[in-house]
Amino acid sequence: MNLILFGPPGAGKGTQSALLVERDSYFQISTGDLLRAAINKQTPLGMQAKETMNKGLLVPDDIVLGLVRESLGARGQRSVILDGFPRNTQQAEALWVVLKELGIKINAAVFIEVEKEHLLKRLLGRRVCQNCGATYNEHFKPELKTGVCDLCGGAVVQRADDSKEVILKRLETYEQSTLPLKDYFSKLGILKKVSGIGETEEVYMGIKKFLN
Ligand code: AP5
Repeated sequence: MNLILFGPPGAGKGTQSALLVERDSYFQISTGDLLRAAINKQTPLGMQAKETMNKGLLVPDDIVLGLVRESLGARGQRSVILDGFPRNTQQAEALWVVLKELGIKINAAVFIEVEKEHLLKRLLGRRVCQNCGATYNEHFKPELKTGVCDLCGGAVVQRADDSKEVILKRLETYEQSTLPLKDYFSKLGILKKVSGIGETEEVYMGIKKFLN
């Protein structure tokens, strides 16, 4: 069962994708992670994306589509989660073309609903391991030793785009560009909604409901 996970910044897309990968053997394609990996490697694409991401804007569609197309080729037999892609209707239209070429069907587009007032606190409190990508939160899920990853001992830091100013811009970009996908997926009959409030386990169970 192939999924799209979408929702506002901080809704828990990455957190839930990690659980689905670990427990249900999904193959996750996160365009945000792919772009950050390109930035860390200082590739030309990464350098181009960095400035845009740090302004809270969307990276050009052709760049992210290229990344997604490449990753889809590496999925093997596994079911796919698209995390953070598509991000606007143009990307969605381009995605259907690629999926048709590859013979892949999306079964559900799961919208993780979290009200705006929770998002700022979550994102300002988020910390990420620079080595393995594990996600922590200083309010909800702190690492055992501050600044050190529980899983691999790597450095746990704040993401470059998790400053208040950039978060507010990301939320604005989300409302303008990504939120209209709700109607888009609804018209296609694949929209599923799950509450992103509560324990991560509860949210996971909400998503699992659609997979069974
Ligand atoms: P991306 O990395 O996709 O960021 P985002 O969409 O803003 O989403 P986040 O990763 O911030 O949040 P999340 O929903 O994954 O939440 P998480 O699970 O971490 O994109 C970054 C940038 O890349 C974009 O701004 C854009 O520039 C570019 N980009 C990416 N894709 C693109 C595309 N397709 N097109 C163009 N540009 C693109 O959780 C957040 C925090 O909350 C964590 O600390 C977590 O521990 C905590 N948390 C999670 N669940 C719960 C819960 N249930 N209760 C309490 N806390 C929780």
